[in-house]
Amino acid sequence: MTRRLDATPSGIATAASILRAGGLVAFGTETVYGLGADASQPQAVARIFEAKNRPRFNPLISHFAHAQAAFTQVVPNAMAHRLAQAFWPGPLTLILPRAPACCISDLAADGLSSLAVRVPANAAARALLEQVDRPIAAPSANRSGRISPVDAAHVLEELEGRIDAVLDSGPCMVGVESTVVDLTDPQAPCLLRPGGVTLEELQAICPHIRLPQTNSDVLPHSPGRLISHYAPHLPVRLNALHAQADEALLAFGAPRPTEAPLVWNLSENGNLEEAAARLFTGLRTLDHQARALGLERIAVSPIPQHGLGRAIQDRLNRAAAPRPQDGVEDAAP
Ligand code: TXA
Ligand code: MG
Repeated sequence: MTRRLDATPSGIATAASILRAGGLVAFGTETVYGLGADASQPQAVARIFEAKNRPRFNPLISHFAHAQAAFTQVVPNAMAHRLAQAFWPGPLTLILPRAPACCISDLAADGLSSLAVRVPANAAARALLEQVDRPIAAPSANRSGRISPVDAAHVLEELEGRIDAVLDSGPCMVGVESTVVDLTDPQAPCLLRPGGVTLEELQAICPHIRLPQTNSDVLPHSPGRLISHYAPHLPVRLNALHAQADEALLAFGAPRPTEAPLVWNLSENGNLEEAAARLFTGLRTLDHQARALGLERIAVSPIPQHGLGRAIQDRLNRAAAPRPQDGVEDAAP
């Protein structure tokens, strides 16, 4: 049984005691729901991989209530301090060298010499992290390779019976995962995953941030950044200018006549923040309803490539990528 806990002081206290005892608690952040475990307890971390069916070579992000707590586990450089100052608490993850005193289990860090750290902004998440007072490893609370959950009902759809509890803090406000920046080489900061902090916002603080040019540029550093992920059951067709009668349409912008019998508009007035917040619920809902109607695939309208549009397109590209059953190895988180 998975308990549903309200984000009240007593619900948060219960969630904290489950985590300290080595249990698994999913909790809302401003990006997506995370599946949390005490990052310093190897057995607790191992349960995350089991519950998600996640490949074991994929390292996890450690979450903290404050930058000071995060910076006890890694060695921050000047850029880390500047980015933390600008964007924490918030949807930014920093990859830094592990500190000599780092207590994170090797399983959570995948034995790497670096560690991903993040301070989320969601109030219930911060209260929980404060009470647990230990680093909490938390990947998105979905089965590996599937659509990330942005409310507690999605978490239960994915993981009911496989985790101890879900702390329900309502829908996630940002709706796409954190931006991941590799700062292990202070001379060459690198954007590993576009996310809730936009490239334009990052460049205002870090003008020389590098964008990986190829997959192989990213893969050794961020093993989770592989091919198929965020996958609905139905195939996905990108940049669709017109949808057909056998397709569901994930639309963006002013509604237009379409043959598609089912439409989910990410944002009728073309607002990318609204679109990001509605993306994963839209994919999940269309997938359910379109399959019930016997439709063939999900067509997706073009998304503008600025601001949160980059993070949205990144998730859609991977939702449309070849699946494991197509003969491609699944290594997505
Ligand atoms: O918004 C988020 O970041 C959510 C919430 C729950 O915080 N978490 C999340 O975790 O998206 P996950 O596990 O789904 O994605 C973490 C990404 C993966 O692509 C992983 O490979 C990468 O971060 N990563 C983790 N540690 C790393 C490291 N030491 N070096 C490079 N990449 C790392
Ligand atoms: Mg994930």
